Amino acid sequence: MAEKDYSKYFQKPNLRQAAKRGKEDVKTINFKMPDCMDNIGKDKKFLIDTYGCQMNVHDSEVIAGILGSLGYELTDKEEKADVIILNTCAIRENAENKVFGELGRLKSYKQNNPDLILGVCGCMSQEEKVVNKLLHTYQYVDLIFGTHNIHHLPEYLRDAYMNKERVIEVWSREGDIVEHMPVHRGGKVKAWVNITYGCDEFCTYCIVPYTRGKERSRNPKDILGEIQRLAKEGYKEVTLLGQNVNSYGKDFKDRNYGFGDLLSDIQKINIPRVRFTTSHPKDFDDKTIEALARGGNLCEHIHLPVQSGNNDVLRRMNRKYTHEKYLELVNKIKTKIPNVAITTDIIVGFPTETEENFLDTLKLVEEVNYEGAYTFIFSPREGTPAARMEDNIPLLEKKARLHKLNELINRQFAAAHKKYEGKIVEVLCEGTSKNDKTILAGYTRTNKLVNFKGKMESIGKLVNVKITEGKTWHLLGEEVNE
Ligand code: 5AD
Ligand code: SF4
Repeated sequence: MAEKDYSKYFQKPNLRQAAKRGKEDVKTINFKMPDCMDNIGKDKKFLIDTYGCQMNVHDSEVIAGILGSLGYELTDKEEKADVIILNTCAIRENAENKVFGELGRLKSYKQNNPDLILGVCGCMSQEEKVVNKLLHTYQYVDLIFGTHNIHHLPEYLRDAYMNKERVIEVWSREGDIVEHMPVHRGGKVKAWVNITYGCDEFCTYCIVPYTRGKERSRNPKDILGEIQRLAKEGYKEVTLLGQNVNSYGKDFKDRNYGFGDLLSDIQKINIPRVRFTTSHPKDFDDKTIEALARGGNLCEHIHLPVQSGNNDVLRRMNRKYTHEKYLELVNKIKTKIPNVAITTDIIVGFPTETEENFLDTLKLVEEVNYEGAYTFIFSPREGTPAARMEDNIPLLEKKARLHKLNELINRQFAAAHKKYEGKIVEVLCEGTSKNDKTILAGYTRTNKLVNFKGKMESIGKLVNVKITEGKTWHLLGEEVNE
């Protein structure tokens, strides 16, 4: 049967095209709201449901910014929403299953309110198989757009209202860098700042280079300008975002300016705290370590995903470093940056990983002594090279490895926390604790969660806290008043 012509917008993604890396220059353009759209959101409400990484969290802030500029108001109640957007994550199968479950649940809202616009965006919409499934099984989804064309959301909404037809537009190739998009930030204390988009690494297990396109660096002046504005607005902390922040600037043809240079320039801005994520060990250079060693506003926490401690597995993952090189880097970082906290990501059960290979990972974890880790069981992602490798490890075995690894990591985490007992640390107080509204909560420069007794006026401020107890997952303390 011929495919229905849904609307003037009907462009499905294609992973093979997304894997291509063109040589054409990336342009920087400014966001412009199409004319006569100002009021399409008047008296209407929106809700965004975000899955996955910080990149998605920040994309949702941009989507909220665009919807806000169109007159929509934010709501947290689904029954009140006129637009519901699911900003999705494709990194592992369970992330995708959650979204399909949620879509199933939202069907009744759509039945009760036929004017509700239900949209799906983010990494899952960049996958052809997902879009096909949405088209055939979730026909009540009105709007599908991808990671490269968020700035066209106003036109898509207008068309969805006018034509009462589905709007599907996903670009397989990345577009330009779009500056000056409206942003509705989730808080007033910490802010996300993109420094690169996309990824060129093609780690064999990872879908991100396909869903986020080729790596593109924002101009330093745009990044520095954004951070300066945030500082003026009173923000206390920014986190620089990129899939591989350490390769920032490698795509510049007209200048030699890398991540270390960017950090040095950001160090001069009057904002108390700067973090970044995620680092790739193969690109972590001396200039970056030197900038971090100077301290100032650059926090001494480095998230340095290792993925595996075995050289064969690392090679098959296409990570481009060895166990030994990684340790060398960690030792250099630890020597140059006192009190640095290193955290990581690890995958267990990568195709053909043997018990011996896994023991190399445990060994590396012992050697590094991490202060936290995200650990995962390998999840085959269709279209990636690892999904075509023989997955010969029984699930029970994968679960047992994950369990063993987590036990070790948790022991290290708890031991690191014990060392804080009796010390006075700087905490950026973000609000009250999730479980107890009389207790304040915030993070140390090393990214440790601290729940502490203190003054409510401290919310939004940097305060000194004496640590009274180190728990497995967080620290307890009391504000120190001079
Ligand atoms: N399976 C399991 N974990 C994955 N990650 C990325 N892709 C996969 C996959 N296919 C993990 C990596 C990465 C983190 C964000 O997610 O550890 O660093
Ligand atoms: Fe995925 Fe590797 Fe790129 Fe990270 S560096 S986003 S793991 S391909």
